[in-house]
Amino acid sequence: MSNQSKTTKVGDASGRGSVAGYRVNFPARMRTYTEAEINAVVNVMRNAEVQTQGNYMRQFEADFKAYTGAKHAFAVDNATSALRLSAIMCRIGPGDEVIAPGYTFCASAIPFGTTGAKLVWADIDPQTWVVDINDIERKITPQTKVLLVVHLLGMPANMAAIMEIAQKYNLRVVEDCAQAPGAAINGQKVGSFGDFGCFSFHGAKNITTLGEGGMLTVKSDADAALTPGLRHNGVRSFPADRERYWVPAMSNVDMDLESVWPNNFSIGEAQCALGSELLKSLDHNNDILIAQAMKLRAALAGIPELTFARIPDGYRHVFHQFVLHFDSSESGKSRNDLLDFLTEEAGIRAIVQYYPLFRYPLFQKLGAADQKCPVLDDWWDNSFSLPWWIGMPDDTMDYLVDSLKAGISTLKGK
Ligand SMILES: Cc1ncc(COP(=O)(O)O)c(C=O)c1O
Repeated sequence: MSNQSKTTKVGDASGRGSVAGYRVNFPARMRTYTEAEINAVVNVMRNAEVQTQGNYMRQFEADFKAYTGAKHAFAVDNATSALRLSAIMCRIGPGDEVIAPGYTFCASAIPFGTTGAKLVWADIDPQTWVVDINDIERKITPQTKVLLVVHLLGMPANMAAIMEIAQKYNLRVVEDCAQAPGAAINGQKVGSFGDFGCFSFHGAKNITTLGEGGMLTVKSDADAALTPGLRHNGVRSFPADRERYWVPAMSNVDMDLESVWPNNFSIGEAQCALGSELLKSLDHNNDILIAQAMKLRAALAGIPELTFARIPDGYRHVFHQFVLHFDSSESGKSRNDLLDFLTEEAGIRAIVQYYPLFRYPLFQKLGAADQKCPVLDDWWDNSFSLPWWIGMPDDTMDYLVDSLKAGISTLKGK
């Protein structure tokens, strides 16, 4: 194999984006925009009367509701804000507990941590690598108020079991769907099972509304009635049939709830117009990612040291990432040794994502230090993500496969 060793080590803080010296980089974006998508944005710049909270937002929300089957949908500036709104509406605080998966991006948990509630970490299922429903149930106490579940990497969590547990213990369920728009279980889309669903349209996601964007889906009418005010500073109009439209003033703060403060989590009209356009091709693009993933999995199937998450029957896993586990027992070498080979010898920029949250000082000081997730602890130290984007060429896939084979043979000394 030719030596493609890297020459420069600078990159963006997210770990994504081009870095000089790599033959296969880890791109910051899943795909480029089509002309129709670009036109949707330009059209708002030319024609929209308002640039925020207008007809494009209402249309995007209606489109998203129809797409997910959720009862209500509210466009927001990012998924962290959607999670924050969910946490506010769960009315939790000090003394309450939220069960969250230990394996996820930190933004899943931070909005719940800021309420003062205790975060209790649930382990991963050894087969599917998303949250383990048995561990969730083991960790329920009388203080538990919320189950936060994450459809991580595009793989749906077991929502039938989670909703059953929630009903049994009278808990609220928040689905973090940031990485999984379009993922489904037996045809039912994620974000339509729990009390809240939180979607991200961040720059690295399967769909992105110009780098930032999000959607909150809501089940109950009572929560839905509260959401617009919580999203936008508690503002609503005074009645339209006033004699003088400016008396007493143009708008009103219609929010006076104990210990609940509104925010501004609004999203612009151009992003919403783009969102509606992107939804049209979401299923098609997810199909491409799924077909690509199946092809790569099949090509890697002959390497016993590499394994993938098991996809349960009826689950639509939308492959936001392509993650593998390396069994190091035969070679005696670690995942880090394999990644050293990929980066130094093959010029492939694989990355490792989502440090188990209970290992961060930020969460340890909130009482996570004594909590155990043994499956995740063991699995995570040997897992990694390959470079991944929609439309990866066949010869790139072949190169990834050949390089992994060469790397593992080298580690085994063959
Ligand atoms: C699992 C998960 N949850 C939440 C978020 C937060 O999304 P946003 O960047 O839109 O706030 C992300 C984004 O990377 C994520 O991957």
